[in-house]
Amino acid sequence: MHSSPSTSSLWRPWTPITQQANSMRIVEARGNRVRDADGNWYLDGVSGVLNASCGHGHPRLIEAASRQFRQLVHYDPMVSSHDPAETLTARLAEILPGELNETVLLNSGSEATEAAVRIALQYWRNIGEDRNRVITFEAAYHGTTYLAQQLSGLPFTVSEWVPPFPIDHVALPAAARAMRTEESADALVARFARALEAGPPAAAVMVEPLLGLGGCVVLPAGFLARLRTLCDQHGALLILDEVFCGFGRTGRMFGFDHDGITPDIVTMSKGISGGYLPLAAVTVTSSIKETFVREPVVQGLRYGHTTGGHAVAAAVANTVLDIMADEKLVENSATQGAALLDGLRKLESSPLITDVRGLGLVVAVETDSPESGAAITAAAVEAGVMTRHERGVIRIAPPLTLTADDTAEAIEKFGGAVDAVAS
Ligand SMILES: Cc1ncc(COP(=O)(O)O)c(C=O)c1O
Repeated sequence: MHSSPSTSSLWRPWTPITQQANSMRIVEARGNRVRDADGNWYLDGVSGVLNASCGHGHPRLIEAASRQFRQLVHYDPMVSSHDPAETLTARLAEILPGELNETVLLNSGSEATEAAVRIALQYWRNIGEDRNRVITFEAAYHGTTYLAQQLSGLPFTVSEWVPPFPIDHVALPAAARAMRTEESADALVARFARALEAGPPAAAVMVEPLLGLGGCVVLPAGFLARLRTLCDQHGALLILDEVFCGFGRTGRMFGFDHDGITPDIVTMSKGISGGYLPLAAVTVTSSIKETFVREPVVQGLRYGHTTGGHAVAAAVANTVLDIMADEKLVENSATQGAALLDGLRKLESSPLITDVRGLGLVVAVETDSPESGAAITAAAVEAGVMTRHERGVIRIAPPLTLTADDTAEAIEKFGGAVDAVAS
């Protein structure tokens, strides 16, 4: 049976629980703009799937992919490595701090979570310690596989299935909008300290530098540095999920760069390939990797995917890194992000808006209710700006190629949408 858009056979992810109910169909994208089937162009305030960091249709990325398609599409990673993957992992070792030198390439952020947690748990076996407890934020989102989903305590990820190992969730001590104060920082650190002290020694603490899907919560400055110290005191590994924040989103190359720390394990996806092809990476320290190849019992990496580190995706990622440097996208994210936040902060005077927060090119506008959030999101689309709404929080995370004119347009049109709904 054939289906028209109104009787679609496509089951969209997470629907109907988080779907922004509309019949929109995007058919084309260029730079920082997308076009729908009716010919309307919109400023892309969601960067594709929060991943189009270099904008859409970038000629250098299309050229890099085409060149690699012609040279070598992909090859069995168990039989041979290939140049794009070797180059990418060497470059990651250069831009990541400290001993973070060993990278596994995968396809998605969820796979990166899966691999990171399994590596962390196996690491403790390798060194003869029986640790398997993992601590995360309750409002974390680390992905959608069975294991990754268990790490989150968000309402839409909760399932009736039992976790495969003990997972302790740390709740925020205050509402997201109150998390920027020093008292909240102390209370948050105290909660992680309690979680580390209670129960058997933790294998790992896994956090995002900014809680993306958990309400776009900007964590207090210095929190990650204090968490690093806590993990060191308790011997727990610190896993940073940079799937959303990595590659410039927060105005620094990585979210943890704001605190100048070095995690033990880093997960990356989304911006790594600018959303052009599926790609993810897990980088671990040389001392963690060493326990997997140590004689006499070589544990090895018991994880991998057919298309993990796909040659074309890796070639694109290498060009993403070139573009980020040439077009100064991390700097642009910081500059345009600050301007966008500044402009949108004025909306806090509206009775519908309870908070505006952000870091780099991720800005969250919190509304007084999910209904207001949905109405403002729909009005913003009408005005020509795409945003994403979840449970009353509207997220604006445009490509890092955003220009000053785009920023001004986003502020004006989004502000107009708030006014339209308020009146
Ligand atoms: C912080 C974070 N981790 C992990 C994931 C999962 O990535 P994927 O959707 O590629 O599986 C996401 C996706 O939004 C994310 O934001």
